[in-house]
Amino acid sequence: MNVFKPFRGMSFLVKCRHYGVCGGCQLQHLPYREQVELKVSRLEKLFGFEPHEVYESPRRFYYRNRMDYVVGPGHVVGLKERGKWWRYVDLEECLLMSREADLAKNVFREFIKAEGLEPWDAKAQRGFVRYLVIREGKFTGERMCTVVTFKPMEEGDYRALFSKFLELLEEKGIEVTSLYWGLNPYVTDVSYSFETRLIHGAPLIRERLLGNTYLIGVNSFFQSNPYTAELLVKKAVELLEPDGGKVYDLYCGVGTFSVEIGKHSKVVCVDSESEAIELLRENMRLNDVEGYEALNVKVERLRKLDTDKVLLDPPRSGLHPKAVRLLARSKPKTVVYVSCNPKTQKRDITMLSRAGYKLEHLIFIDQFPQTEHMETIALLRQ
Ligand SMILES: C[S@@+](CC[C@H](N)C(=O)[O-])C[C@H]1O[C@@H](n2cnc3c(N)ncnc32)[C@H](O)[C@@H]1O
Repeated sequence: MNVFKPFRGMSFLVKCRHYGVCGGCQLQHLPYREQVELKVSRLEKLFGFEPHEVYESPRRFYYRNRMDYVVGPGHVVGLKERGKWWRYVDLEECLLMSREADLAKNVFREFIKAEGLEPWDAKAQRGFVRYLVIREGKFTGERMCTVVTFKPMEEGDYRALFSKFLELLEEKGIEVTSLYWGLNPYVTDVSYSFETRLIHGAPLIRERLLGNTYLIGVNSFFQSNPYTAELLVKKAVELLEPDGGKVYDLYCGVGTFSVEIGKHSKVVCVDSESEAIELLRENMRLNDVEGYEALNVKVERLRKLDTDKVLLDPPRSGLHPKAVRLLARSKPKTVVYVSCNPKTQKRDITMLSRAGYKLEHLIFIDQFPQTEHMETIALLRQ
């Protein structure tokens, strides 16, 4: 089945009017159960067996806690076209995040038009306003908006400008608990804010998972579907079985797993982003976790893991070959590998099998309904 080709005749299944052109979703033309079955069959093909456990997302739409709406020529505000990095779809609606986020995006379009702000042109590599990034704490109701621009502005200018955006949002009844201006002065097409200024509200937003509170910043990674993230953390920690000994949480981010692990064991948390490590410390304090160590370093720079239990959750690119060698020479008995890219996960597991690891259990949690992305947890043992 070619999942990239929407069935036009099956439009009753397709809820979003931009489906088929927009690069955000690929599977809306399938009933949800079939989306999950398709992903399970892809995992079976990749790993040679079906996942031992499969979990659906309790929410199929409006589940994401982060959207990066790109700005393009003609004051387009939306997402990239399917397969075309240089063309954008002007989204009147997007059903992935929330009604409020959807409205905020449309208010933003009107705002940049009314103010005559020059949109970014990725092909010509010029312009001013580049992204509207919206983040939400689904279980706290908090919302952070960041307007990312290419060029810097004077203090008084950006405050006056973005306060107008805030007023427009308030007029529509959209609550924003943090509003930032962010700067990306590089031509690389990313929504990352290399410099930030808080315009309004609190510097961070909060999310609650499994009774824990997590602080999230402008640039920090956070699992994008909080409705499944609770299960992801619970299942990964259950497989890890922390029992008082030292545990490593590699690629720990702001401590999504570390906080839970830290309730049972001393945890060594490792991440290359200093902002993530700073927030991890805050999150450990907020949740009364004391027995931990935080290392702001690349995993592949570590020399040895003096432990029998490791949890890893690397970015989509998977493990650096040096990180594979680190595991191979440290030989922890249990490795729980969380991944948002089963292809690189499988590649890494194949390399780790040469060091004596066996893939004992595979869990698939559908963190990304309507899209072809997959989240898996693999339990490896020596
Ligand atoms: C998929 S996120 C997982 C974060 C965290 N486990 C969570 O669930 O929120 C990957 C994390 O790896 C970090 N990272 C990327 N490359 C790294 C490296 N080479 N060494 C250590 N951390 C890295 C990123 O900063 C990011 O926080």
